[in-house]
Amino acid sequence: MLTMTTLARRLSTIAPSATIEISRRAAEMRREGLDIISLSQGEPDFDTPAHIAHAGKRAIDEGQTRYTDVDGTPELKQAIVAKFERDNALHYSTDQISVGTGGKQVIFNALMALIDPDDEVIIPAPYWVSYPDMVRLTGGMPVIVECGEAQHFRLTPEQLEAAITPQTKCLILNSPGNPTGTGYHREELIALGEVLKRHPQVFVISDDIYEYLAYDGWAFTTLAAVVPELFERTLTVNGVSKGYAMTGWRIGFGAGPKDLIRAMAMLQGQMTTNPSAISQAAAVEALNAPKDFLEEHLEILRQRRDMCAAAINAIDGLSCRVPEGAFYLFVSCQGLMGRRTPDGEVLERDVDVARFLLETAHVAVVPGSAFGLAPWFRVSFAAATERLGEACERMAHACQTLTAAPVTDQTPIG
Ligand SMILES: Cc1ncc(COP(=O)(O)O)c(C=O)c1O
Repeated sequence: MLTMTTLARRLSTIAPSATIEISRRAAEMRREGLDIISLSQGEPDFDTPAHIAHAGKRAIDEGQTRYTDVDGTPELKQAIVAKFERDNALHYSTDQISVGTGGKQVIFNALMALIDPDDEVIIPAPYWVSYPDMVRLTGGMPVIVECGEAQHFRLTPEQLEAAITPQTKCLILNSPGNPTGTGYHREELIALGEVLKRHPQVFVISDDIYEYLAYDGWAFTTLAAVVPELFERTLTVNGVSKGYAMTGWRIGFGAGPKDLIRAMAMLQGQMTTNPSAISQAAAVEALNAPKDFLEEHLEILRQRRDMCAAAINAIDGLSCRVPEGAFYLFVSCQGLMGRRTPDGEVLERDVDVARFLLETAHVAVVPGSAFGLAPWFRVSFAAATERLGEACERMAHACQTLTAAPVTDQTPIG
């Protein structure tokens, strides 16, 4: 007998991601034995550095396999306090620190603790896919502010001022950002801070998860450090996932006002309790040990970024800026709109381009519409260098098969 489950209404507020169909098709093609190059991953292809992995193994051998304090062990909180002092000149006490199962849980906990139904949360677009849906799940309203390429994908103070209403509860900032890799400069954060100082009801979540992935001398800075007046109403979020190549260990953390941190612990205590004890021990090692591996990782990523950006910018119809951080290129495919594939399909949206690249070049990318800006797509350059080079060649060949002028069914005169 067929039964229909009645799901909670809150699920109807979140849309299935535009990327699902592309990912499903990529998996299907792989099962068919096709050589698909995935440039859609949101994680570095490096292994977790050996000293960190060993700390995890040691934790198991030493029996660190039980529940810990809900929002992090005292050792890890201490290591996080020291990290903020050392890297960001931010002075927190351990009761201002919350550790969760990835940066994702920390952000979700914070939104659950802060947002009432109909509260507005300002999200600059393009944005990390999860922010708007997380806000909707709390009952809040995402207020999307489009920050296009002309402004280097950065929110301007004028846009921020215009977006703030009496209902605004929170702003989410992400630098360097996913999907663009754009990083804010200190002066830009100060200018945004000037606006926020005039609106004391606005809380800030600063998502700094890509902090260490910075190139060409661009200096990472974070809002609570450059605008001290906002320290008391900012949650500074970070984690070990991206910079330490530890995405699967699932450790993220946030630092902010004590009342919020307590509320987040209460929520987490009713959901997942503590993040893995073993991963927490590995994260202590990651944060306390020197980051010697980072220089090599950054050099490899920088070379891949430059190679990939040059190859993409040489393709007629595609263009991207060279980002100062993270491991993504955000590629405009505006120039391909209206072009016709050899199969006769006209490319009208970035989803069409992503599907075309998958079917023709066997390269998987993520359409920009998933990040709130179209027609663009995101390429991750955290893939093996040779595969990345091959993917760019395949994309170039595929794009050469497109015909620029739309075919008309009118018979030419003369
Ligand atoms: C901007 C941004 N914030 C947060 C996260 C979550 O990171 P974690 O794997 O630690 O949950 C990601 C992961 O892709 C991200 O891109």
